[in-house]
This record gives sequence, C-alpha cells and structure tokens, in this order.
Amino acid sequence: MSRRFVLVASAFLPLLACAGPAEPAVPAPPPAAPRAVESPAATGEGPAGAGATPSPIVTRGRATYLRYCALCHGQNAEGYAADHANAIGNPAFLAVADDAFLRAAITDGRPGTPMSAWGRAHEGPLDDVLIDSLVAYLRSLATAPAVDVSAVQVSGSVERGRALWSAECTRCHGERGEGSEVATSVSHPNFHRTVSDGYLRHTIEHGRPGTPMPAFGHLPSQSLDDLVAFVRSLEHAPDRPSPPPGDPPPGIADLVINPTGQPPRFTLREDRFVPSEAVKNALEQNRRMVILDARATSDWALGHIPGAAPFPFYDIEQMAQQLPRDGTWILAYCACPHAASGHVVDELRSRGFEHTAIIDEGIHFWMDHGYPVARGAAP
Ligand code: HEC
Ligand code: HEC
Repeated sequence: MSRRFVLVASAFLPLLACAGPAEPAVPAPPPAAPRAVESPAATGEGPAGAGATPSPIVTRGRATYLRYCALCHGQNAEGYAADHANAIGNPAFLAVADDAFLRAAITDGRPGTPMSAWGRAHEGPLDDVLIDSLVAYLRSLATAPAVDVSAVQVSGSVERGRALWSAECTRCHGERGEGSEVATSVSHPNFHRTVSDGYLRHTIEHGRPGTPMPAFGHLPSQSLDDLVAFVRSLEHAPDRPSPPPGDPPPGIADLVINPTGQPPRFTLREDRFVPSEAVKNALEQNRRMVILDARATSDWALGHIPGAAPFPFYDIEQMAQQLPRDGTWILAYCACPHAASGHVVDELRSRGFEHTAIIDEGIHFWMDHGYPVARGAAP
C-alpha cells in the first residue's frame, strides 16, 4: 500500500507545499484540470449579470471567490450557504466595510469560528495578489455608495448597553456575542481590532437589509451609543495562543494512520456521520484509517487531530487521487457544522471511495473535550 503512495509522492507533495509561504505561486486552478466551478468567471459572466465586462482583477477575484469562499458565503456572496457565514456581498455591509477591513478579515480570519485565516502569514493558501482580487470582486458588488463613518464619535455606558443587549440582541448573537446558528459573532478580537465605532453604530442603527440583522434606528441616539459601548466590552481574548511550530504534514507514505492496525468499526448516523468519541477511541486502539482536515491549511497548522492530513475542500481534485482505494476508512472533519467536511466526503463518494464519513461534531467539539490535538508546521 505505502509503496503505491511513494510512487505518486512527487505529484502530491508539491500540492501540500503550495500552501506554504516559501511557494511563490498562487494556488491557481491546475492548468491540466480546470475546475468547472470557475468557468462563469472565465467567460466574464458577472454575478449579477451586470452587463459591463468586469475588469481583469474582478474576474480573477470572482474565480478565487468561487473556489475558496462560495462554499459558505454563497455563489454570489449573498451569505448563509453554510456556517452562518454572513452576506459579504450585501450593499449595506459593503457601504461600511472599507477595503482595509475586508483585507484584514480575509487575511487573518476569525480563528475559533468557521472563518479561516486565508493569508500566507497564517499558512493560508492566498497571497496578497489574490486577496486584493477578492477585495476588488466584493467591491464590485457594492451597489450603494460608501458611508463615511470615520468621524462618528460614540459616548455610551456599558451598563445601560448591557440591559438593551439582553433584551434585543442575545437571541441572535448570544449572551457574550459569540454568535449562533443565525448570526455572526461580534466578540472576536480580530473583528474589534479592525472595526470602527462608526461601523458598529451604523450597523446597529440601520441593520443589514436583506439579512436577519434588524435596524434599531427607532432607539434613542444615546441607546445606540450604549449598545456600541457594550459591544466593545464583549471583545474576548484570542481563543488559542499561537502554537509553537509543530510537525510538517504527513507525506504520502504516512497518510494511513496505523497502517498495520485493524480497521475500526463505525456505526454511522444517516449513513454519513461518525461521532467524535468513536474516532477518538479508534485512535486509542491503533485502528487503521485516514483522517482528512477539510479546512484551510491555516487551521490545520493551528491545531488538528493527530495524524490528520491537510486536505482543504478547495484542493480536492488532485489530492483525491492519492488516497488509498482498498476500503480503508477515510474520515473528514472541519469546524462545526459540516460544510467543508461534507463537501469532501461527497466528492470522495462521487469518486467511488467506499468507507467515508464526516466526524460529526467537528474540531471545536474535539478540542473542547480535551481530545488529543497536534500542531502543524508550515505545510
Ligand atoms: C467554512 C466556511 C467559510 C468559508 C469557506 C469562508 N468564510 Fe468568511 N466567514 C465565515 C463565517 C462563519 C464568518 C463569520 C465569523 C464570525 O462569526 O465572526 C465569516 C466572516 C467573513 C468576513 C467578515 C464579515 C463581517 O461582517 O465581519 C469576511 C470579509 C469573509 N468572511 C470573507 C471570506 C472570504 C473572502 C472567503 C474566501 C477566501 C471566506 N470568507 C471563506 C465562514 C466562511
Ligand atoms: C434576528 C437576529 C438578530 C438580532 C435580534 C440582532 N442581530 Fe445583529 N446581526 C444579525 C445577523 C444575521 C448579522 C449579520 C448580517 C449580515 O449578513 O451582514 C448581524 C450583524 C451585526 C453586526 C455586524 C457584525 C459584523 O461582523 O459585521 C453588529 C455590530 C450587530 N449585528 C449588532 C447587533 C446588536 C447590538 C443587536 C441588538 C441591538 C443585534 N445585532 C440584534 C442578526 C441579529
């Protein structure tokens, strides 16, 4: 088995390496196998069929968007395709989110949420050129003029804001602003580092038409300030400190965990999901299996299930060719719920892999329960 992997190692390793900072090339679609999903952009067909031919940078940004972002934020950035990923193409959002805000959100992500850090600085797959193209693409969706919120001054009371928050906001954003199935978090340090008081106040006052975020413009001006003050107080410490450098990703020959072990026995829910606990037990019993981390490579580097290989959902095409086809169990996981891991498992099944499953609760459950976690060095 491992011999077969060795034969293809040279084809596979550069793919793993393509997310590393040393690799100058952008992860453009492999020329030999263009991805169908990118063809709309290649033909210049804009998201809204806007008529005018988009500029090259917007075209490139759209292709990049479709490959890396549409899974969660939707085909046209309308949001809510998965994982409460918000409507980043919404004109009301784009009117207050300036380019620097967008660039920081994409580069640094919101670790601890399903929003990965996509920038090279965090072992993500996107270099500055691609991130700029994404910003240009999102900007091309802005149909409302930018609102200048830079001069907005806020003077509010956290205490008064707390009462309003409990009454008006908790049901969607959670008690501590941690977010929910329906709404983003508003507590992440990466958000607070880049968001202005004016952005917060404008969003609360006007809401985000077309999304569940209501407008609270009927509240007195002072209450809006109080809410901003309270939202500011919700900023939490970074979830997990930067990890020390860890091991490089497993090579082809090491993809199978416990190659000489017995296969595990899994009972799947809905023919798809295996409980995290069953996987943890199987690891303890040295069972033979493959575990794939379906998230962006930056998330793999931050922390992953020991032995798991980075197998980001946007790079399935060629990587799938390297997996064993001998009935070995192949499990995929991501951050809960199952957007990225579900996509990987669907793709593997459509390619005829037999024993595949999604690790049900995802990596945050795994980490929160103190199951073993490994750190990764740059892939
Ligand atoms: C696996 C799902 C997922 C993928 C893939 C994903 N995102 Fe996100 N994104 C999210 C979620 C969820 C949030 C909200 C995070 C939170 O709760 O703070 C988010 C937040 C954002 C924000 C901040 C929005 C705001 O209002 O503060 C931006 C900008 C963004 N994403 C852009 C992108 C881009 C561009 C890509 C592709 C390179 C991408 N995302 C890929 C899930 C995803
Ligand atoms: C019915 C659910 C709901 C309620 C109630 C609600 N929100 Fe929101 N809020 C959302 C959603 C959904 C978004 C993201 C909208 C989008 O797609 O851009 C959001 C976005 C936000 C944002 C911008 C976050 C970002 O990353 O850009 C802020 C700030 C915010 N809400 C504050 C509040 C405050 C303060 C209250 C109470 C006064 C409140 N929200 C009540 C659903 C809600």
